[in-house]
Amino acid sequence: MSVKPVKVALIGSGNISYTYLNTLVHGGFQIVDVVGCSDLIPEKSAARAQLFGIRQMTNEEILSDPEIEIVLNTTQLWNHTAVTKMILEAGKHVYSEKAMGDTLEGAKANYDLARSKGLMLGCAPDIYMGAAYQTARKLIDDGAIGRPLLAHAMCCRGYNSHYAPGDPKDPAAGSAGTTITHDMGGYYINVLVSLLGPVKRASGYTKFYEDRVYENPLHPRYKQPVAREIGGRPRGDSVFLSALEFESGVFGSLTFNSESFFPEEPRVEIIGTEGILTLPDPNNFGGWGQDVYLKRVGNSVNGRNEQFRVPFTHGYGDTDPAVPPKSGKPEPCYNSWRGLAVVDMAWALRRGRPHRSSAELALHTVEIIDAVERSMKDDRVHTIHSRPERPAPLTPGMFGMGEASIDNIL
Ligand SMILES: NC(=O)c1ccc[n+]([C@@H]2O[C@H](COP(=O)([O-])OP(=O)(O)OC[C@H]3O[C@@H](n4cnc5c(N)ncnc54)[C@H](O)[C@@H]3O)[C@@H](O)[C@H]2O)c1
Repeated sequence: MSVKPVKVALIGSGNISYTYLNTLVHGGFQIVDVVGCSDLIPEKSAARAQLFGIRQMTNEEILSDPEIEIVLNTTQLWNHTAVTKMILEAGKHVYSEKAMGDTLEGAKANYDLARSKGLMLGCAPDIYMGAAYQTARKLIDDGAIGRPLLAHAMCCRGYNSHYAPGDPKDPAAGSAGTTITHDMGGYYINVLVSLLGPVKRASGYTKFYEDRVYENPLHPRYKQPVAREIGGRPRGDSVFLSALEFESGVFGSLTFNSESFFPEEPRVEIIGTEGILTLPDPNNFGGWGQDVYLKRVGNSVNGRNEQFRVPFTHGYGDTDPAVPPKSGKPEPCYNSWRGLAVVDMAWALRRGRPHRSSAELALHTVEIIDAVERSMKDDRVHTIHSRPERPAPLTPGMFGMGEASIDNIL
């Protein structure tokens, strides 16, 4: 049965809008029809509109256009709650960049609003839909590591807002709800939920590392401690260690630290009764050194367990990083498939089925981080109330990379 393409528009034409527009305009997905983009800074939306052959629009034009059904919110983290609310109130489905909000209250309010209006709300990251993590999902579901028992995930980075060269111009950057916890949490929690199901209880330790000093000699507060407050708000935590109990009985540890250095050090390992999966950076769709490794019982050679690389069973790995972005300037994540979940949302809308990157999944990340922060204060283990379904797996064997349509496999 032939269906009508879903008209989509984007609010927030900054860095990451490139990869979304590239996926949705050039990815070969007939189900989405990108109409236009907006930004508070019109030069930015004009540049993106020209590059992708879409309309430069204002927020008002997007929200009042009855033809537009899904709106992408690719504004900064601290604007997500307000912009998502604005889009929902206009009666449109939303796909937001991560995190769903910088507070649990804001995220929950939008979750409730979407439900009350019968609108879809989804949130990045959608890396769990890529080649590497769909391969890992298939391995786990096929029993390659036996029964999963433990998950270890870690992300170490270095964030300028904490050590150099000074406070960013926007006072919201670095404040509570905008630091590594909310910035990176979704990458790890979405892949863990896709592999292992939802988290039932969470506890842990989290803090703002107090010992940093301004390290740029040009900064007026050179060598003085980095202020605990920023723009009148407390700084967000920069060191985070959590213990997670999954509903399936798996135990997990999730660690974030933005007081280290770049390039970041990401780790994800899933340990089962019969094997160990070592997985790539959940910020990448897979390939180009971002691979899936398996150690299995019975593969010991000379007393050592052999680790081998598992060829991807699924399509949508990263595209060739040597092919530069079409804009001719550096663009973050330019060779990724960010936006696949928007394609899924469009199909869900036309087919009347649930979308994979559900509002429940998006809320889960913010709720887990909030629970760990509360655990630090009250010494308690907290029940997680959101219980997202594991997003349905994709069909293996589609290596289309955009030429063959994902439309058939969602
Ligand atoms: N930059 C990256 O490497 C990267 C990677 C993955 C995800 N993300 C996520 O993408 C989101 C955006 O990041 P970015 O780096 O593209 O930020 P950015 O600052 O480059 O772009 C955000 C844009 O949103 C616009 N904006 C803010 N409020 C608006 C409003 N009410 N109406 C219209 N426009 C508005 C800003 O003017 C800005 O141009 C963040 O959540 C970030 O975490 C960024």
